Amino acid sequence: MKLTYTRAELTDHHAYAEPHIVHGNRLHGGFDAQGEYVPPRSKSRAEAIGNWTASLEARGGALFEADNSLLRGPRMPNPAQQTLLLERGISQPFWNNLTVTGKLEARGRLLADVQFPSLAELIVEDTREMAVGHLDEGMLWAHGIDEGGQPDEGIGGHDVMWFVARDLVIDPGTHADVEPPENIGRPEAGQRLMPELQPQYEGLLSLLMNLLIIEFRAEIFFATAQEILRNPVLFADRRQAAEEAAEIIERIRTDEQIHVESLRLYLGELREVTFRTVDGGTVPARQVIDRFWTGLAAWASDEQPKLAAAQQRALLEPLIEAQGGAALLAEFNTLADPH
Ligand SMILES: [Fe+2]
Ligand SMILES: [Fe+2]
Repeated sequence: MKLTYTRAELTDHHAYAEPHIVHGNRLHGGFDAQGEYVPPRSKSRAEAIGNWTASLEARGGALFEADNSLLRGPRMPNPAQQTLLLERGISQPFWNNLTVTGKLEARGRLLADVQFPSLAELIVEDTREMAVGHLDEGMLWAHGIDEGGQPDEGIGGHDVMWFVARDLVIDPGTHADVEPPENIGRPEAGQRLMPELQPQYEGLLSLLMNLLIIEFRAEIFFATAQEILRNPVLFADRRQAAEEAAEIIERIRTDEQIHVESLRLYLGELREVTFRTVDGGTVPARQVIDRFWTGLAAWASDEQPKLAAAQQRALLEPLIEAQGGAALLAEFNTLADPH
C-alpha cells in the first residue's frame, strides 16, 4: 500500500470533463463525464487519505472522534427565524451570514501561505508514512487553496463560491459590506495549555484542533443555508438561481468532507505517537491532545454558541425593529432557540 506521496501528487487534479464555471466565474474543481462535481486536488489526496487511514487502523488506531455532540447550542438566527425575516423582505441578516462565511473561508488560505513547523522533531516515531508526515508536503497547502482559491490565476475557492451563491439570490449592492469577527477560535490569550511542548508545536496542534471544530460546526450553517435557498416560498422571483446557489453550497460541502476527514486523520495518528517534551523526556501524545480537546470541545459546543447567539441578538434586534417593527421582533423572538 502506497503511504508516501510527493507534493505534486497530493495537489494533482482529476481530469475534468468540464471546468467549474458559474455565470462567468471560474471556480475550483470540475465535473466528470456524468456531470458529477469533483473536488479540486483530490486525485491522489483522496487515495492517500484512504491509505493512511487503513494503515492507522491496522496499527490499532482510528480517525479522531468528532460527532454530532459538537453541533450543540443555540443558533441566532435559526432557520425558522431566518425564513420569517426573508418572507418579510428583510434579507440583510442572511446576506451578512453568507458574506461572513465567505470571508472566513478566505482566511483559511493561511494554511497555504504560512510556513508551519515540521512535526518530525516533536514526534519520536517515524512519520514519513503518515498523513502528519505530509502536512508541509502539500496537505495543508491543498487545504488552504481549497478555502481561499488562487486569485492570481483567476480561480475562486470557497470564499468566491459563497459570494457567487449569495449574489445569485440577493443583488450585489443591496447591503453594506460586513466583516467577520477577528478570531473565531478559542481565545487563548497567550496562556500555555500544552506547557510540556515547545510553543510552536502547541500552536500547530491547537490550530489543527480548532480547525476541526470550526470545519465541523460550519456544517450547521451550510445545511441551514441550503434549506433556506431550497424553500419554494423564498426567492420566489428567482427560484432557479436559488436552486443553483444551493448546488454551489453542496459542492463546498463535498470539498469540506476531505478537510474534516484529513483533520480527523492527523489527530487520530497523533493520538498514537509519542511527543518529545521540553524537559528532554517524552509523553504519550494522546494525554496532551485529549486534555486540550476536552476543554476546547466544551468551549465550542457550550460557551461559544451562547456567546455568539447573544452577540447576534444584540445586532439583529435593532435592525429587525427598524425594518419590521415591534410586532415582527416579537414574532422573531418567539421562534428563538432556548438559550
Ligand atoms: Fe471551506
Ligand atoms: Fe474547509
